[in-house]
Amino acid sequence: MNIVVGITGGIAAYKAVNVVRALVLAGHDVHVVATENALRFVGRPTLEALSRNLVHSDLYEGVAEVRHVAIGQAADLIVVAPATANTIAKLAGGFADDLLGNTILASTAPLVIAPAMHTEMWQNPATAHNIEVLRSRGVTVVGPAVGQLTGKDAGPGRMSEPDDIVAAALAVVGPRDLVGKRILVTAGGTREPLDPVRFIGNRSSGRQGIALALAAAARGADVTLIAANLEVAAPASVAVVRVGSTLELADATTDAAASADVVIMAAAVADYRPEVVAERKIKKEQQGDVLDLRLVKNPDILKGLSEIRRPGQVIIGFAAETEPDAAALLELGRAKIARKGCDYLVINRVGWSEGFATESNTVTVIDRSGVTVVEASGTKTSVSDSILDLLA
Ligand code: CTP
Repeated sequence: MNIVVGITGGIAAYKAVNVVRALVLAGHDVHVVATENALRFVGRPTLEALSRNLVHSDLYEGVAEVRHVAIGQAADLIVVAPATANTIAKLAGGFADDLLGNTILASTAPLVIAPAMHTEMWQNPATAHNIEVLRSRGVTVVGPAVGQLTGKDAGPGRMSEPDDIVAAALAVVGPRDLVGKRILVTAGGTREPLDPVRFIGNRSSGRQGIALALAAAARGADVTLIAANLEVAAPASVAVVRVGSTLELADATTDAAASADVVIMAAAVADYRPEVVAERKIKKEQQGDVLDLRLVKNPDILKGLSEIRRPGQVIIGFAAETEPDAAALLELGRAKIARKGCDYLVINRVGWSEGFATESNTVTVIDRSGVTVVEASGTKTSVSDSILDLLA
């Protein structure tokens, strides 16, 4: 898709860099139109390197190619992030005194804006009125979020997180084929406490689960994300339940699964937990040279949910495997889906440099008969969409 990202002059412009990056990584052709003031906050080379295209800001450059309308005419989607109070006022008034204003007026593509400003400016009746005007014209307004602002103040006005802006923007143009479906996604890795300060954990960052949750929400699903120790910010656009250990994950998942149409177990779950959790910090003077830990088995959440699944409910598991050989990996997956009893299994090779904590992923999805139904490789967002296509 040809996507224009309009960047205007607010400090949140530094975060808009990640909107550009995420859209490029999702496979889109991104053209940045920055206002002169935006370029005071973030450098042209940064935006050109990340968007892989020239950045345009001057209304009087490229006149021979009628650039002031050409960029907007070619766009399939326009995202303005951050949208300052001034830009919002100009958009509401239909001003075309800079390249971004011309681009937007000359375009029939959907327009998504992510306001960012101080609370007083956001709550000012002038801004509130302008936002209403834009909404009444079909403009999608993402956020703003409530949180820390540039100064010492906090409140509504903070630009939404880049991933949320991207998800909302792609939702405007993407398929809405999961409307009305309740989808439960687990993400991250569980931690089993040894004592008040230590745990046994794993290297899952939560990125794939978050990408699934955002992609499902973008397609219209009502999403709950059960998040175990995420390494990245949880999305603001879906309901999030935070858990720590496997037992907590089991409780939260079992509760939420009762009303879910689909359960996706992307979390990396600890199979064992310490039999005894020390009340106080374990001291090495009392342990000597060897510390024996006795671990007991955790419940298998996926297996349990598969056993009690309601008719029509779809349950998807993940298989994190280090097997290097493709055929052997598939065999491990087949044995695992037979053991777990879920409907689909997303087989995912993991290792020191694969699967965990990276932006991309390669998966094979099999069904209960062991047949490969999806093979996908790319960003965690594009892999998520391939998995969700199965449900749609
Ligand atoms: N899972 C679960 N409960 C557990 C362990 C795993 O629900 N106690 C889920 C995971 O969320 C994942 C799937 O089962 O969707 C497979 O997890 P994986 O770690 O690959 O498999 P295990 O069952 O733990 O088997 P092994 O580690 O022996 O490969």
